Amino acid sequence: MFKIKLGILTTLVGVCSFNTQAQRKTISQRVDSVLKLMSLDEKVGQLNQYSGRNLTGPLTEQNRNVQKDIKDGLVGSMLNVHGVKDTRQIQEIAMQSRLKIPLLFSMDVVHGYRTIFPVPLGEAASWDLDIMRQTAHAAAAEAAAAGLHWTFAPMVDIARDPRWGRVMEGAGEDTYLGSKIAKARVLGFQGAKLGATDAVMACAKHFAAYGAVLAARDYAEVEMSEHELWETYLPPFKAAQDAGAATFMSAFNTLNGVPAAASNYLQRDILKGKWQYNGFVVSDWGSIDQMIKWGYVANKKDAALKAILSGCDMDMMSRSYLEHLKTLLAEKKVSIKLLDDAVKRILTKKFEMGLFDDPYRFCNEDRERSTLRNAEFLKLAREAAQKSIVLLKNQDHLLPLQTGIRQTIAVIGPLANSKRDMLGNWTGAGDADNVVTLAAGLKQKFVQSKQLIIVNGTDVKGSDTSGIQAAVDAARKADIVIMALGEGGEMSGESKSRTDLSLPGRQQQLFNAVQAVGKPVIAVIMAGRPLIFGGIANKAHAVIYGWFLGDQTGNALADVLAGDYNPSGKLPVTFPRSVGQIPISYQMYKTGHPWVAAASGYQTGYIDMPNTPQYAFGYGLSYTSFKYSDLKLDKQVITGNGSITASFTLTNTGNCNGEEVVQLYINDPIASVVQPIKKLKDFQKVALKSGESRLISFMIDKDKLAFYNQQLQWAAEPGKFKLLLGSASDDIRLQSEFELK
Ligand code: BGC
Repeated sequence: MFKIKLGILTTLVGVCSFNTQAQRKTISQRVDSVLKLMSLDEKVGQLNQYSGRNLTGPLTEQNRNVQKDIKDGLVGSMLNVHGVKDTRQIQEIAMQSRLKIPLLFSMDVVHGYRTIFPVPLGEAASWDLDIMRQTAHAAAAEAAAAGLHWTFAPMVDIARDPRWGRVMEGAGEDTYLGSKIAKARVLGFQGAKLGATDAVMACAKHFAAYGAVLAARDYAEVEMSEHELWETYLPPFKAAQDAGAATFMSAFNTLNGVPAAASNYLQRDILKGKWQYNGFVVSDWGSIDQMIKWGYVANKKDAALKAILSGCDMDMMSRSYLEHLKTLLAEKKVSIKLLDDAVKRILTKKFEMGLFDDPYRFCNEDRERSTLRNAEFLKLAREAAQKSIVLLKNQDHLLPLQTGIRQTIAVIGPLANSKRDMLGNWTGAGDADNVVTLAAGLKQKFVQSKQLIIVNGTDVKGSDTSGIQAAVDAARKADIVIMALGEGGEMSGESKSRTDLSLPGRQQQLFNAVQAVGKPVIAVIMAGRPLIFGGIANKAHAVIYGWFLGDQTGNALADVLAGDYNPSGKLPVTFPRSVGQIPISYQMYKTGHPWVAAASGYQTGYIDMPNTPQYAFGYGLSYTSFKYSDLKLDKQVITGNGSITASFTLTNTGNCNGEEVVQLYINDPIASVVQPIKKLKDFQKVALKSGESRLISFMIDKDKLAFYNQQLQWAAEPGKFKLLLGSASDDIRLQSEFELK
């Protein structure tokens, strides 16, 4: 009977999966018509999400229960079921439920599904928004072809503490850059419109301030001023929403004493209130019943109550809603209006994804076969990896290396020939066998070389030093030494905080022994976070930061080492000299006792180390050089809603073509809320041929001068401002002043 009813409704209201203004109304009518048919249990069921790891494997008691819940209409979404075969099989179970409401299949497709792209922090170093949009879209196309509808990405948490393992998943420390990247990634994941079969729904996470967990202990508390929250941590979420992010995920942490999943302030007041967000919010894994462990509520029922009241629509993996919402309704603690609102938000996305029209529209074996790891995606992966690489040091222009000569190259280090590590963390359905290692990439590139000697020397971790002698012997035979050092691929990511950011294991010892041989050493450092490696930075002739670059690691690194790609990456995060400087960001303040290099006395800093980092935000070298000249402002004063244009000439003064990331910073010297010395407010990545010059222009309006004032209003204050243009936050080449009246 219900099947017929639903069929009639579908015909009456019309088939519609897309998201234009007129169609949205149609979807809302269709949502209402489904809602009318739903029992209370089925409504609550839509708010319930289970993980389906192994669900399609041997039928265990747990599988049986999950399958029964799906059949009973008690599950709205499954995470971690992926692949056309498995998603189809589970969707078929949902189609046996009374109302046949399709399931949403979700997964953490963070930097690739099958083709693995660079880790997000690494890719942020490209400062290339288009490449980030493209890789997100490719990841989404693969995920969608594998039956998925929804990725738990992008992570848009600003992070200024590299001890935190999840710094690897985000876009780094800067709010402006982070907001631009949030937008690019959401647009990439979601494609042209929700419901396209080459795209998935995005999820802006983790709402909010997770990047500021105390002392970088994952899942810990966040104590933060409202001002800092609004100024630094919320804007990337707003940018994600403005880009159309279909869903948000609440965070594991507390914010000023309240678990984020129960935060009325974040979810009701800000997200669904002030921002009028119309997507839905999913909790993080088990974070609703974790309120009990926090000591915020006494039991699961209270946890469910707090979460639903505060605006969390879907319960990931805690069953709190499933077990208690009905009772809470009967007790009149939760209104049916509130429950319906959550259900409607979820159903709306299912309609927008076209799942009511065809629950299997993402289940096409042919598409799966032809999409995963297609040639276009592999090419993109190599390009994204090239662009993510940051050249940190290049003494005497040692790089690029010549490929066409006979030379012996020793490739030494635990990451020289490692496949799995290169994928980093959150590897989707990636396969380490597909990885081109550094050694493999070099072998292909340096075919003319007399010899390529590959030696591990030591492991990433542990205390085994027995291979060091072989590494020293290899260095003696070599003309050039390339050392591949860093963290293991799983040493960053969730729950991977570290107190010591130096190279783990005996890698420093290995470096010292090899470097002592006296051959030119190029250090290639790979990690999911900024590491601390001053001892290497000082002694190596060249240093390349390679993050974890995914499938195409070796090809991209070899391209850079051989000069087939001129590095253009810039650090999206500050690299400290010491753990003692953390948290650290280029956005420092002058203070009443400003820090002055090489001075002593009462100043804001340390007695044992300068305030400056090892490598500043925005820093990265090229094989060519760029000159900044002739800065001109078209006016000296901005009035009302006007703007000024700053223009200057950028010239490639070196011998090869290259790309420069021109960075625009603003300093507001006197403000009612004290401002950092500089804040990034714009940038452009510019490609110039050797010898070429170009006029580069930036527009500056009131919005670029605004900040959250003491009333938490976004406003610019009249007065003088400084405009700083440069190649890095600590390498300002041109500056000027102007006024806002
Ligand atoms: C993480 C989320 C992730 C979720 C599902 C949690 O532990 O914090 O970022 O999306 O698991 O895998």
